[in-house]
Amino acid sequence: MRRLLIAWLVPLAAIAAVPSPAAGYALGAAVPWDRVRDDVARRALVERRFGSITPENELKMERLQPLQGAYAFASADALVAYAAAHGKRVRGHTLVWHQQHPAWLRSGLWTPAALRAALVDHVTTVAAHFRGRVDSWDVVNEPLDDDGTFRAGDAPWLPVLGPAYIETALRAARAADPDAKLFINEVAAEHKGPKLDALVRLAADLRARGVPLDGIGLQNHTDTAGYPDRARLIDTMRRFAALGLEVEITEMDVGTLRTPGSPADRLTRQADAYGEAAAACDEVRACTRLTVWGLSDRDSWRGAAERALPFDTALRPKPAWRALAGPAGA
Ligand code: G3I
Repeated sequence: MRRLLIAWLVPLAAIAAVPSPAAGYALGAAVPWDRVRDDVARRALVERRFGSITPENELKMERLQPLQGAYAFASADALVAYAAAHGKRVRGHTLVWHQQHPAWLRSGLWTPAALRAALVDHVTTVAAHFRGRVDSWDVVNEPLDDDGTFRAGDAPWLPVLGPAYIETALRAARAADPDAKLFINEVAAEHKGPKLDALVRLAADLRARGVPLDGIGLQNHTDTAGYPDRARLIDTMRRFAALGLEVEITEMDVGTLRTPGSPADRLTRQADAYGEAAAACDEVRACTRLTVWGLSDRDSWRGAAERALPFDTALRPKPAWRALAGPAGA
């Protein structure tokens, strides 16, 4: 509804460049900086089509703190400066995860006190460094397993600190950057099931205890063989909105390989998946941003054969882009 209204109210010329602000929520993309930095075509795609950028890998712990205490901000700073120069918002991804953390973290023999200090140091240093330049942080990424239990992965956070590491990280992030929105970002929690229930319980518990949490990220990595429709996403988003939280779709892509049919059929179905997510975000006021995970099929972490993104390998818009961006995506 918001998109339809705005489409009438805002002159087409104003929305043609970057459709996202006119949509009532921001439209973003994960940016692989190593591929965008020196590539005129990809830069044009970012600058023309998206209102928000998520660094795909540059803000992860293995990149920012490869050796303990030796922070390496150059690449992330360059990407964030590029975003600022072009008026793009930046989502920070991610402060604490069970993947892509440095070897020193994995191999250390940690006491709880030492690991807690390392956690607070990382979150504080990074959030303070980007204060005022990153508007939201995925403070904790993918804390749950599919059965709704807490996930350890190959990181020491959960085994050494227990689930309290989540609260510790959120409090440290708030102290370091009081203006950034703080998120927990989760994969495969769009559908009904134990993982979604556990995420709602976790969010409710944190909110009830006054732990700073502003939003939930739903990654929505999905597939034309079975994707959450508008009603499903609205239902899920409203469970978090009822707790006073924002919701974002943070990493959407839609694989097509597993669906039978012609290539054109698959792309039509893919467009429907993106359109359903856009309609849900449009409908739920708490939904503030929809980010696709990569720039083009050439860049997707799922491989080009999946054709998972709204721009093809030649960076041309696909039906999915028109479904996402509405009239401005034409
Ligand atoms: O940068 C090195 C390069 O120097 C080296 O030559 C090359 C050799 O393999 O690896 C490069 O690093 C890769 C990096 O992506 C950059 O391309 C890593 O091996 C690879 O593991 C890494 O994958 C990233 C993945 O997270 C790691 O788990 C993907 O790009 C990134 O899209 C993906 O994103 C995650 C989100 O953060 C969280 N949610 C799920 C999502 C998809 O897995």
